[in-house]
Amino acid sequence: MTSRREFLKWCAAAIPGAACFGTQAAEQIAPARIDRYIDPLPIPRKHKPVERHNNQDVYRVGMIETLHRFHSQLAPARVWTYEGQYPGPTFEVLRGSPIVVHWENRLPERHLFGIDTTIHGAMPPAPEVRTVPHLHGAQTRSESDGLPEKWFTPGGTAEYHYPNQQQAAMLWYHDHALGITRLNVYAGLSGLYLLRDETERNLQLPAGDYEIPLLIQDRSFDAHGQLAYVPTFDDRSSPPPGHWAPEFFGDQPVVNGALYPYLEVEPRPYRLRILNHANSRFFNLYLNLSPRPTDIPQLVPLEQIGTDGGFLPKTSALNKLLLGPAERADVLVDFSNLIGKTITLSNDAPAPYPGWEFAVAEPPRLYELMQFRVTRPLTAPAPVFSFSGSSEFRKLTPDSSTITRDFVLTERMDAKGHSLGVRINSKGYDDPVTEKVKLGSVECWRFINMTMDAHPMHLHLVQFQILHRQGFDTGAFTLGRLQLAGNPRPPAPNETGWKDTAVVKPGEILSILVRFDGFAGRYVYHCHMLEHEDNDMMRPYEVIA
Ligand code: C2O
Ligand code: CU
Ligand code: CU
Repeated sequence: MTSRREFLKWCAAAIPGAACFGTQAAEQIAPARIDRYIDPLPIPRKHKPVERHNNQDVYRVGMIETLHRFHSQLAPARVWTYEGQYPGPTFEVLRGSPIVVHWENRLPERHLFGIDTTIHGAMPPAPEVRTVPHLHGAQTRSESDGLPEKWFTPGGTAEYHYPNQQQAAMLWYHDHALGITRLNVYAGLSGLYLLRDETERNLQLPAGDYEIPLLIQDRSFDAHGQLAYVPTFDDRSSPPPGHWAPEFFGDQPVVNGALYPYLEVEPRPYRLRILNHANSRFFNLYLNLSPRPTDIPQLVPLEQIGTDGGFLPKTSALNKLLLGPAERADVLVDFSNLIGKTITLSNDAPAPYPGWEFAVAEPPRLYELMQFRVTRPLTAPAPVFSFSGSSEFRKLTPDSSTITRDFVLTERMDAKGHSLGVRINSKGYDDPVTEKVKLGSVECWRFINMTMDAHPMHLHLVQFQILHRQGFDTGAFTLGRLQLAGNPRPPAPNETGWKDTAVVKPGEILSILVRFDGFAGRYVYHCHMLEHEDNDMMRPYEVIA
């Protein structure tokens, strides 16, 4: 890992007279012209506890600015990391074994990116650099949730407790500071959190070198290989530098911190733990044996075994896997009969998702992300496992719900048709809490989407279940009438498990059933497109004991 010292050295060695980040290293080529599939896929290292205290593992995590090479032909880019690593080190913890994490903000006083000080939470006198880590998908006390307003500045620390009482799942940690989450996460503040349990171990799923985490992002780079954050409006125009716009679509795919990496695999089953880690972009993923994205695709089937919050009640065979930002999939893929083959992890989701009916300039699609090459010899016969679904899963039924709450999603536009922000029930984050739910109760929440975008809606504290999705008449709704259209559609087979993030498409109502278990206190729910979350598609809610 590059230290700050090495970074300064690198700057000093750069072409004299040029500003540090305006220099062109000799080996450097334009980001758009780099060679694909020449760098191996990095696997984030596992995080180690620094001590054991009161029978709990204690971890220390520093937020640090460093240099990171996204590609061997690009100059190192300035990034913000947990523990000097992009993405941060992976926690691996056991259900029933709570841990303590000391989070330390050791970042500089200036942000990597321009801050829009006109949006809520980022207005003066808010300091430029503020961070607060959140463990996404976890059931934690409110004090350890990483609420957006609980940010701290360089030199500041927080001690958070993670009880790890929930079932095995891949959670993830990322920054959540009010009004600048999109920038802090874009800068690199995120990592994975693998929660293990007995049930999982007994399944004998592919593990160790055969369990591969894939954090998928889209990023843009300037001519010097530095991260560029340029958001866009629906007409693809961008605001003046440093100003908010409703979406960010990068033109380069980054997997585990690498551009177009490859992974050499053995002819055997692998378990992939996939996270859509983009700010705004949806991914519709598939494994393609055809050499070029323009060829007729030859798909390698996937079997999804788990969702955001645990194993599916019934595993689901898939050709393509749609993930909105923050959604995760636990997937098996069998390379046994593919010796010598190269398989490209590909994507055909439009951006923005699901796309417009009228033609506007579309941002670049990212058709390919990485390669799997079945070039390694089988080191040992793969242990036999069979898994058809979790027997632990309990379905929530609508009759257990005590109340149905409606959340209307709307976007405000200026005269040019440029977004001024997205809201839930026309309220902003600072408006008083309107949802006070009883601890232990089940509620039905309906997200009614009046916008042109699909939104991945996320609740803190809980894992929920999708009840159904249903069309409605948006015209009638503007006149105050909720007129349902068509029949409610049950969740897709690969969405029938525990979710903490679920997508609602335009002109659609997403109904979810939520049991508010665990802890009383203040939490939040929001759209996980980070540009939306920051302005101002996020609301607090309270769980009352
Ligand atoms: Cu990924 Cu509010 O969270
Ligand atoms: Cu979260
Ligand atoms: Cu949104």
